[in-house]
Amino acid sequence: MGRYKIAVIEGDGIGREVVPEALRVLEAVGRRYQITFDWHHFDWSCQTYLNTGRMMPEDGLDQLRGFDAIYLGAVGYPGVPDHVSLWGLLIPIRRAFQQYVNLRPVRLLRGIESPVKGYPPGQIDFCIVRENNEGEYSEVGGRLYRQTEAELAMQETVFTRLGCDRIMRYAFDLAQTRKGHVTSATKSNGIIHTMPFWDERFSVMAKHFPEVRTDQYHIDILSAHFVQHPEWFDVVVASNLFGDILSDLGAAVVGSIGLAPSANLNPERQYPSMFEPVHGSAPDIAGKGIANPIAQIWSGAMMLQHLGEPAAAQAVERALEAILARSEVRTPDLGGNANTRDVGEAIAHEISEVAED
Ligand code: NAI
Ligand code: MG
Repeated sequence: MGRYKIAVIEGDGIGREVVPEALRVLEAVGRRYQITFDWHHFDWSCQTYLNTGRMMPEDGLDQLRGFDAIYLGAVGYPGVPDHVSLWGLLIPIRRAFQQYVNLRPVRLLRGIESPVKGYPPGQIDFCIVRENNEGEYSEVGGRLYRQTEAELAMQETVFTRLGCDRIMRYAFDLAQTRKGHVTSATKSNGIIHTMPFWDERFSVMAKHFPEVRTDQYHIDILSAHFVQHPEWFDVVVASNLFGDILSDLGAAVVGSIGLAPSANLNPERQYPSMFEPVHGSAPDIAGKGIANPIAQIWSGAMMLQHLGEPAAAQAVERALEAILARSEVRTPDLGGNANTRDVGEAIAHEISEVAED
């Protein structure tokens, strides 16, 4: 009989469309597995920014601190610069709550044809472990001589031993529960200070895990390998920027950005973790009701797993995969003509009606 207090931030654009469908599915699985969710909705978004000058109130982080988890749609919308919306909401949450792991599974589901031909379901199955607190996403830097010919912008990348070691340790621990293989994304040929440091920390960590096989590739050829040999990978550990880029590429290789889930984890559980799809607010399709809610729903399964409800998490994953494998209910990004709600209802129905194993 689990009971969880969840902070829900739908955010912007399609966040407002996919989150309600995901809550429908989580309610269905809750009924089935005796889990009660206390949803607390926070209307923090670009609209809030336009009304108040802030993405979230000054004490926003304090308001979130006591929750068991945070369930986020997406933030960012035309009318507010993207760095303002991201740094006003998403990034402060990731940092204040030490969600230094951004875990992003890349799995080819039954019923989905990869644009990379010849891969059967199950053959592409890996996880991107993205460093989520430092790296290229730093506030260190600035602008000088604005509006003159001499204008310049500088931004410093920050890699710490603590930051590298903890994300790499997480990747190796995860690999031990999977196929025992970690690939590191680097660029130590061109980025001469931080990336050789990243490589050094990777080889130090690898020594602690002699049973785990390791590889490392420069990010340029690694991107090519993602497309040409996606079956090579088990756990891919990457810095903040590289991990972000690889995540959208991974999502495309397994069918759609509309399928890609993610978890922002504070593994020590000192603070709430946050669960959100890899995709953004998709202004180009917002308001049409055709966004694929599966990435949001699958992120909900990751939240259940984190909360200690593995049976319910598996039920959600099984149901979404069953719907994709068996039915025509799919959104336009997957070549179908169903809408967001059709997909949410089909998955919720699958959970409620289909017999347990
Ligand atoms: P995006 O992921 O929102 O959209 C990229 C493309 O994928 C668009 O063509 C969109 O229609 C499509 N797409 C995305 N999610 C989909 C879904 N569930 N179903 C079907 N199609 C889907 O990325 P974009 O366009 O770069 O960013 C739009 C806004 O979102 C920006 O303001 C950006 O800053 C923000 N953003 C926020 C993120 C977050 O909240 N974590 C992550 C990425 C972007
Ligand atoms: Mg991204």
